[in-house]
Amino acid sequence: MSTKGSKVVLVTGASSGIGRACAELLSARGHTVYGTSRKPSPGPAGYRMLEMDVTRDESVQKAVATVLEEQGHVDVVVNNAGYALAGPIEETSIEEAQRQLDTNFFGVLRVCHAVLPFMRARGSGLIVNMSSLGGVVGLPFQGLYSASKFALEGLTESLRQEVASFGIQVTSLQPGDVRTPITENRVRVQRCGPESTYRRAFETALGIIEKEERAGASVELVARQVLALVDRKQVGVRYSVGHLSQRLLASTKAFLPARLFERILMSYYGL
Ligand SMILES: NC(=O)c1ccc[n+]([C@@H]2O[C@H](COP(=O)([O-])OP(=O)(O)OC[C@H]3O[C@@H](n4cnc5c(N)ncnc54)[C@H](OP(=O)(O)O)[C@@H]3O)[C@@H](O)[C@H]2O)c1
Repeated sequence: MSTKGSKVVLVTGASSGIGRACAELLSARGHTVYGTSRKPSPGPAGYRMLEMDVTRDESVQKAVATVLEEQGHVDVVVNNAGYALAGPIEETSIEEAQRQLDTNFFGVLRVCHAVLPFMRARGSGLIVNMSSLGGVVGLPFQGLYSASKFALEGLTESLRQEVASFGIQVTSLQPGDVRTPITENRVRVQRCGPESTYRRAFETALGIIEKEERAGASVELVARQVLALVDRKQVGVRYSVGHLSQRLLASTKAFLPARLFERILMSYYGL
C-alpha cells in the first residue's frame, strides 16, 4: 500500500525519455509509482515497471488490474506512451496512420476506459494527457502525429467536462521539443523513398525538426511540470512546457491572422 500523503501514480511509456523522467521524479518525491513498457525491465529501485502495450485492450486492463490489486486504487494516470510518425500525408498508408492513432490516441482512450470506473467510485483522480505543441499547430510532414495530438486535445477538453462532477480532473500537457530518444525512435512512412516528389521538402523539414529536438528542453523540466500538476488541488485545461520561444510561437496562433501564422511556419520549415 502507498504511504500516507503519497499518491498512486501510473505512468505509461516509462521505459524512456519523458515517461522515465516522470516516474523517477515522482517516486523520488514519495509517490507510489508504476511505470509501463511493452518490454519492461526491472527498472531502478523506487518504482515498479509493468508490461503494457497501449494498443491492446487486455494488456492495458491487466496492468491497471495489477495496480488496483496491489494498491486498491489509482490516484493519477500520466498518459505518456507514444511515438512520432513522419512523412508526407499523401504517402502515408492507412495502416501507418491507424498505427499512429492507435498508440497516441486510442492508447490513451484504452487507459482512460480502464481507470475511470475506479476513479469514479472513489470520487477522485487526475489524468494527465501528454500532448504536444504539435497538438496545437499542424506540423508539416508530421501530419498524422499532429492529428493524433489534436485528437487528444479534443478528448481531454470533452472528458474534463464529463467527469468533473465525479471529482476527476483531466488536463493536457503540451511539451515543445524535448531531448529524448523520440528522434531515433521516429518511424518514417514507407512510401517516401528516393523517388518521392516530396523527398527534398520532407528531408529539409525533418532535418529542422530533428535538430530542434536534439536542442530541446530537458526531460527533467517536463517531469517537474508533471510533479507540480500531481501536487495541485485544481488543474487547468492545458499547460505548455519547454523552450519559451516555441511556446510563444504556438501561442501566437490564437491571435495572428491564420495565413500569416502559416507563412511563418512554412518559412521556418524551409517550405
Ligand atoms: N520528445 C519530444 O520532443 C516530445 C514533444 C512533445 C510531446 N512528446 C510526447 O511525449 C511522450 C513521450 O515521448 P518521448 O519523447 O519520451 O519518447 P520516447 O523516449 O521514444 O519514449 C516513448 C515511450 O512510449 C512507449 N511506447 C511507445 N509505443 C507504445 C505502445 N504501443 N504501448 C506502450 N508504450 C509504448 C515506449 O515504451 P516501450 O517502447 O518500452 O514500450 C517509451 O517508454 C509521447 O507521447 C510524445 O508524443 C514528446
